[in-house]
Amino acid sequence: MNLWQKLAKSRKPFLALAPMEEVTDTVFRQMVAKVARPDVFFTEFTNVEGIIHAINNSPSDPSLLQRLAFTEVERPIVAQIWGKDPKNYYEAAKLIKRLRFDGVDINMGCPEKDVVKNGCCIALINNRSLAAKIIAAVKKGAGRLPVSVKTRIGLDKIVTEDWCGFLLEQKIDALTVHGRTARETSDVPAHWDEIKKVVEMRNEKLVDTVIIGNGDIKNAQEAGVRSQESGVDGVMIGRGVLESINAFSPQPATLSPQENINLLREHIKLWQKTWGDTKNFSIMKKFVKVYIKGWEGAGDLRARLFETKSLEEMAEVLRKGWDSNPR
Ligand SMILES: Cc1cc2nc3c(=O)[nH]c(=O)nc-3n(C[C@H](O)[C@H](O)[C@H](O)COP(=O)(O)O)c2cc1C
Repeated sequence: MNLWQKLAKSRKPFLALAPMEEVTDTVFRQMVAKVARPDVFFTEFTNVEGIIHAINNSPSDPSLLQRLAFTEVERPIVAQIWGKDPKNYYEAAKLIKRLRFDGVDINMGCPEKDVVKNGCCIALINNRSLAAKIIAAVKKGAGRLPVSVKTRIGLDKIVTEDWCGFLLEQKIDALTVHGRTARETSDVPAHWDEIKKVVEMRNEKLVDTVIIGNGDIKNAQEAGVRSQESGVDGVMIGRGVLESINAFSPQPATLSPQENINLLREHIKLWQKTWGDTKNFSIMKKFVKVYIKGWEGAGDLRARLFETKSLEEMAEVLRKGWDSNPR
């Protein structure tokens, strides 16, 4: 039984932390694991051409190593890749296997203009032969590691049956469906009725691809309801974890201001220990919003934290602005 089948058997729905660029690095994943863990983690997406370039020219490239770094507490962990050339996908999948990830996921959903212009990710919807070659190359490179795909339901119009039907025919181990087209922004609610169609197609086709639904789910409780309605095996949560780091908790619970402050402090320490000064400090500010909100004085503290220019300054603001005046 592969990872995805085990997860689908373990509970319904199983929960996944979504891949999020400049968010779900090893540090944030460790913080999520500490507060309330999902059943499976994904890395940020990593470009296969970048991987090949780094292997050949600069194997110690910090940005590549940062994307593919993980610790044992983040298992099971799936590395997500994207790119253009099947040969590079093959080599990247071999590297991911060597790095002892638990699975490889192919990004066929990113809607970024440059990426789409280049024929990558969601643009593969219009290049089925390349999409099939990429999946075959990853399967070959990944060996026994399970191979999954994350996608959307269309590029500029909904083509769920056509596109997801094609993906199911590639006999992938899991398929994550974000219920929006590339053109639809987050203002449009995710089409869970379309996600349900993918489950029905999977059942009709008698393939054992595990289906994960994604889009607008805030927490474990909402995931349970959506899974019942749509039949998905798993639910992936992205922005919900930024709204509440507690999103995967089986019981809804609000963290106190002091608990949030302590978590931010821990996040800063772990960032320092893991990255030192090799990672852009401005990314750290995204996490301030995760912890510092929702209580009197939070806005003021957040503004002061945004003004800081280093981890040390940030820690100092917390010490002075909070510890000396606890509410
Ligand atoms: C900041 C950010 C970065 C993202 N980066 C990725 C990525 O690297 N790979 C990917 O497949 N999806 C990425 N996504 C999309 C999410 O994985 C997810 O599909 C989307 O946010 C919808 O789920 P949600 O409503 O639970 O957030 C990103 C989303 C956000 C908000």
